[in-house]
Amino acid sequence: MNKEAAMATEIVLETRNLMRVYGERMPVKALNGVDLQIAAGEIVAIIGPSGSGKSTLLNLIGALDRPSSGEVIVNGTPLSKVRNLDRFRGRTIGFIFQSHNLLPTLTARENVEVPMYETSISGSARRKRAEALLAMVGLGGRANHLPGQLSGGERQRVAIARALANQPTIVLADEPTGNLDTKTTAEIMALLIDLNRTQNVTLVIVTHNTEVAAICQRIISIRDGAIESDVAVQDEIERDLLRFRSSPLGQAILRGDPLPGEIAEHADRLREVLTET
Ligand SMILES: Nc1ncnc2c1ncn2[C@@H]1O[C@H](COP(=O)(O)OP(=O)(O)O)[C@@H](O)[C@H]1O
Ligand SMILES: [Mg+2]
Repeated sequence: MNKEAAMATEIVLETRNLMRVYGERMPVKALNGVDLQIAAGEIVAIIGPSGSGKSTLLNLIGALDRPSSGEVIVNGTPLSKVRNLDRFRGRTIGFIFQSHNLLPTLTARENVEVPMYETSISGSARRKRAEALLAMVGLGGRANHLPGQLSGGERQRVAIARALANQPTIVLADEPTGNLDTKTTAEIMALLIDLNRTQNVTLVIVTHNTEVAAICQRIISIRDGAIESDVAVQDEIERDLLRFRSSPLGQAILRGDPLPGEIAEHADRLREVLTET
């Protein structure tokens, strides 16, 4: 969705002339006037060189940090007007980081439950919801495992389940696939896109990975603390193909795995098309 189209729909995230300066004696301008609007249900990639201000922007959008000046507006609420930011964040925004940040002594289920302590949900409902979320991310059988007993991809799935604990309308991810191999990256992206489709979660994903960015609907490029470009991924067909490519079936076709009957007949042609994208 481009800027004009975003205007026509519900804006869930907005920044106005956002600035963030770190330090006083040797000030670093990490963000230098960012104006941004993101509509409900968008999947936005934020790309840019290391040190360009991507994490700073995401942290400000997610109320993990305060701007030096300017404003962040989430679901119509200016964050500067929010009394209890922790509470607001906990109920509105889910975070996924590059390193999963799971608590090592808690099981997968207990980790997913952590954000729910911010709400009034009962203990049994909390456990049930955590189990349902783990099942949704494909970890139904791993609820009682500790993070150390899980693979990198599995830990990131737990982190996604945890991000969804309080039914956020917005999920912010900072290099969510940065530590994962290509196959696991594709799986995690497929999962995130599925969440966007089925639950209309707005996704903002900081990434270095051009394939990850290409799957998104819109790519915002940051340089030296400012937006350098903001483009919609125009070609719907190409986008669908990229999504299909990152899906488990697309991945299976690319690997040349044996496929179920009807699809098998078209496997060669599909592989050709997917390899061209
Ligand atoms: N806590 C901090 N204190 C001082 N400088 C920081 C801090 N966090 C980030 N910076 C600086 O701000 C700039 C933007 O950083 P960051 O947002 O982390 O970039 P990116 O995520 O794009 O790599 C960099 O120059 C970085 O060194
Ligand atoms: Mg960063």
